[in-house]
Amino acid sequence: MSVLLICTGRDPQVWVNAIREQQPNVKLYVYPEAHDPKEITYAVTWRHPKRVFNKYPNLKVIASIGAGVDHIICDPEIPKSALVTRVIDEQLTKDMSTFVLALVLDKIRNISLHHSEKKWGPKPYQTVEEENIGIMGLGVLGKSAALNLSKNGFKVSGWSKTKKHIDGVSTYHGERDLNDFLKNTSILICLLPLTLETECILNKELFEKLPKGAYLINVARGEHLVEHDLLEMLDKNHLSGASLDVFRIEPLPQEHPFWKHPNIQITPHIASITDPKNAVNQLLDNYNRMLANKPLNNIVELKKGY
Ligand SMILES: NC(=O)c1ccc[n+]([C@@H]2O[C@H](COP(=O)([O-])OP(=O)(O)OC[C@H]3O[C@@H](n4cnc5c(N)ncnc54)[C@H](OP(=O)(O)O)[C@@H]3O)[C@@H](O)[C@H]2O)c1
Repeated sequence: MSVLLICTGRDPQVWVNAIREQQPNVKLYVYPEAHDPKEITYAVTWRHPKRVFNKYPNLKVIASIGAGVDHIICDPEIPKSALVTRVIDEQLTKDMSTFVLALVLDKIRNISLHHSEKKWGPKPYQTVEEENIGIMGLGVLGKSAALNLSKNGFKVSGWSKTKKHIDGVSTYHGERDLNDFLKNTSILICLLPLTLETECILNKELFEKLPKGAYLINVARGEHLVEHDLLEMLDKNHLSGASLDVFRIEPLPQEHPFWKHPNIQITPHIASITDPKNAVNQLLDNYNRMLANKPLNNIVELKKGY
């Protein structure tokens, strides 16, 4: 009955410290340190090496340390008997909605543009009331971002798979509504999970349905975006710019054309990062629930893919 921590591309030590501080008696191994695979029943993971879980015959739970689980589900060989859970955290959710609001305000008031153009003088700008913000994905993060933007005076609409009712937000759902959702959207924000259906959804065909001059914010996953379609739409001035926090390859390679594009703003996947001190309680609560044969929280429906 031990926990295995696999943390690729993030510092595992902060998680080790948080787990040990909260529950010092947990037997914890950090992959790839030596351990007996038969002992492991609970894995806490971020971007595990594919197929690694095949080696763990008694694994019951694979817990993502983030809100997304695409890094788990993309493994074709995750054991069928294991439950997959994710983090739903108030601070993570707040961080995403303030980050998105900051990007929108930066865009409409030309804040970064003034600096990059190095020209002294006012520029025409859109007021809050003039923008139509469209959010793809109205889950935990998308809904919170939508409410925060609406609270700040923006006209907000959102698109999801199933119908939603959110005060102050116009909602659309399904393929059938997508064109109507896009046609008035001046700032498009992607907060979809990465699934087979949503991979490459930010493509030329979709961009062409946005009004000329629309702006893209992608804070979901790099694989949602067809990169050369974005470059083409920017170069044709159909899109006015993009703020990207997530990329197909992270860290974004130095030679990538996005770094040099004057209308692309880049941040290094920092929109909202799980704070181990906040999330460790729910990870350990689920661990203790597993030990006590109680139902777990924040289980992901593998069939749905998110
Ligand atoms: N950049 C960062 O720092 C960062 C941090 C955390 C998370 N993220 C990303 O943000 C994503 C969203 O997180 P979340 O917690 O809000 O996810 P969530 O609660 O699972 O919500 C997903 C939303 O997307 C909708 N959706 C899924 N597939 C769809 C489809 N084919 N067509 C239309 N709508 C679809 C869902 O619709 P229904 O409600 O109808 O099912 C739901 O509203 C994560 O998966 C992760 O990739 C990024």
